[in-house]
Amino acid sequence: MRFSDQVVVISGATSGIGLSLARAFTREGAKVVALGRNQDRLAQVGREVDLAMTCDVTSDKQVEVAIDAAVARYGRIDVLVNNAGVGLFEDVLDTSMGQLEQVMAVNLVGMARLTQAALPSLIESRGRVVQIASVAGQRGYARHTAYCASKHAMIGWSEALRCDVAGAVDVVVVCPPAVDTTFFENAGYTTFEEDHPGLQLWTADQVAEETLDATHRREARRILGLRAKALYAASLVPGPLDALRRATGKVKKRG
Ligand SMILES: NC(=O)c1ccc[n+]([C@@H]2O[C@H](COP(=O)([O-])OP(=O)(O)OC[C@H]3O[C@@H](n4cnc5c(N)ncnc54)[C@H](OP(=O)(O)O)[C@@H]3O)[C@@H](O)[C@H]2O)c1
Repeated sequence: MRFSDQVVVISGATSGIGLSLARAFTREGAKVVALGRNQDRLAQVGREVDLAMTCDVTSDKQVEVAIDAAVARYGRIDVLVNNAGVGLFEDVLDTSMGQLEQVMAVNLVGMARLTQAALPSLIESRGRVVQIASVAGQRGYARHTAYCASKHAMIGWSEALRCDVAGAVDVVVVCPPAVDTTFFENAGYTTFEEDHPGLQLWTADQVAEETLDATHRREARRILGLRAKALYAASLVPGPLDALRRATGKVKKRG
């Protein structure tokens, strides 16, 4: 039991990766506080974990109430998992500033709001902040400007947080590649499988298992899969890659 009696708060625990995380931490002996907005799914997850609470991460009040309730009930928080997130996958010219702000409001500001609220308790318990970021937080993808920006910002925020809380709280950043959840459908798109036939997707349970391992080891960053690791390594040398793209890209300069 790697998390016996530890208090683990998970945002966006009503579906996909968050739900798998809630189940995996529970199996490992943790007292899981599952947060989310969808009341039906919250009631379902509430039957499997210690406590399920409404929490929209864009609401100051709901975040305060949820964190206060967790601390009042257990006396501390040992692990905060920032998993709540939304997607937006539009061409840059089709992305309104309002849409960009909405994605940042959840994936960056909501994550920061929840973390700041939990931080005093995490500092006391010498706890861990676990960030479900994305490979999209490490390099750019087509039709991903808002989403990539939000996940890059999440990682940048986390790296700076690690400096601020060094010696008191460990910050674990997890970067999954495409995962088989309803994430893309929820955002109003076709599934990732339909758009990328043949690409092997990760399951939410696999992501949860890797996340628990990285959390247990207090690892700074866990990039999931060889392909994602190779793409990340390649993005560290953008110059040569850009030249390669220019040479092989669809658009060619005339004579
Ligand atoms: N699926 C992928 O390919 C993939 C890859 C890399 C990283 N990720 C990241 O993994 C995380 C989970 O995604 P998923 O694939 O499991 O998708 P998902 O099934 O759509 O889960 C997203 C979760 O976020 C919650 N959420 C959304 N907006 C919220 C808000 N304002 N306040 C609180 N909770 C909110 C949703 O809960 P409610 O609806 O109940 O609020 C839901 O539980 C996201 O951060 C995503 O960016 C996903």
